[in-house]
Amino acid sequence: MSNYLIPGGAGFIGSTLANYLGKENNVVVIDDLSMGKKENLDESKHITFIEGDVADKNLMEKVMKEYRFDYIFHLAAVASVADSVARPLETHRVNFDSVLLMLELVRSYQPELKRIVFSSSAAVYGDEPTLPKKEESVIRPLTPYAIDKFAAEQYVLDYCHLYGVPTSAVRFFNVYGPNQNPSSPYSGVISILVDRYKKQLAGEDTSFTLFGDGSQSRDFVYVDDVIQALLLVATKEAALGKQFNVGTGKATTLLELIHAIDEILEVELKLEYEEERSGDIHDSLADISKIQSIGYQPRYDVLSGMTNYLKTEIK
Ligand SMILES: NC(=O)c1ccc[n+]([C@@H]2O[C@H](COP(=O)([O-])OP(=O)(O)OC[C@H]3O[C@@H](n4cnc5c(N)ncnc54)[C@H](O)[C@@H]3O)[C@@H](O)[C@H]2O)c1
Repeated sequence: MSNYLIPGGAGFIGSTLANYLGKENNVVVIDDLSMGKKENLDESKHITFIEGDVADKNLMEKVMKEYRFDYIFHLAAVASVADSVARPLETHRVNFDSVLLMLELVRSYQPELKRIVFSSSAAVYGDEPTLPKKEESVIRPLTPYAIDKFAAEQYVLDYCHLYGVPTSAVRFFNVYGPNQNPSSPYSGVISILVDRYKKQLAGEDTSFTLFGDGSQSRDFVYVDDVIQALLLVATKEAALGKQFNVGTGKATTLLELIHAIDEILEVELKLEYEEERSGDIHDSLADISKIQSIGYQPRYDVLSGMTNYLKTEIK
């Protein structure tokens, strides 16, 4: 039985991880519920929920003094790129300051920690068009969100090299699965799509707006594969002080995705077409050979991942 801290653990990826780990380990979740929901977490005596701000120094110091953790997964963030463009100062507090604070607190109070894993993003690669993205590809962060992710990631890795804090980082591509919050207009395209399918199946007058011709592509990775990746990165010696892409290594266009869901649900989603939005990145794809070298193997393609996801969403 190990002890885990998951800031952001009431959110989409964090709650999936907390519920998985909470079956056999002690898990402390800190979340301010700005996007996450307490109901995402299983009722379990192994999961302790603390409502609070991960950038709050007093709170975090108290938690770090009170508990001994084996592993920390820092998943808290204002995960909306658009929000970071609208409120760079506020989002910087969460997306960057909280990470540096955590590193310092680990250095002071958690000498036994086995690993802290930071969740970075494929957004750090920006719009440089060469694909697939390798970890050492050109970095071109274009938004406050991406800049904070890259800066935080570099601090995380540097703390390993400078102070011997056991750290690793992951760059998630497009993660999807149950408990993803579709309420934000900037949320992942899959959660928005699922929301539209649900409405259409319920007989509501709804449609999905495609910007461009639907040929834009992403590396969509199912959340269970992300959990596999996080646990490997946290436990493998070879991952110390390094960052890893987390995707499937396969690109799916938006139209292919929609056709896959149409097929699973046996409906045809009503589409509306609008001009491609300027500034949108057309294609994104991970090279996953680095994480494969520590044992990662994605188990889901879009069809099997979506089939699983839809089972939980559409009964
Ligand atoms: N989902 C993706 O495709 C994706 C892609 C790249 C990177 N990421 C990163 O992975 C991590 C998890 O993302 P997610 O998709 O689960 O997003 P999410 O929004 O569901 O989860 C983030 C959680 O952090 C919490 N949070 C925000 N500000 C906080 C604060 N000040 N104090 C405490 N908690 C706070 C939110 O309430 C939420 O529960 C984030 O760091 C995100 O940037 C996600």
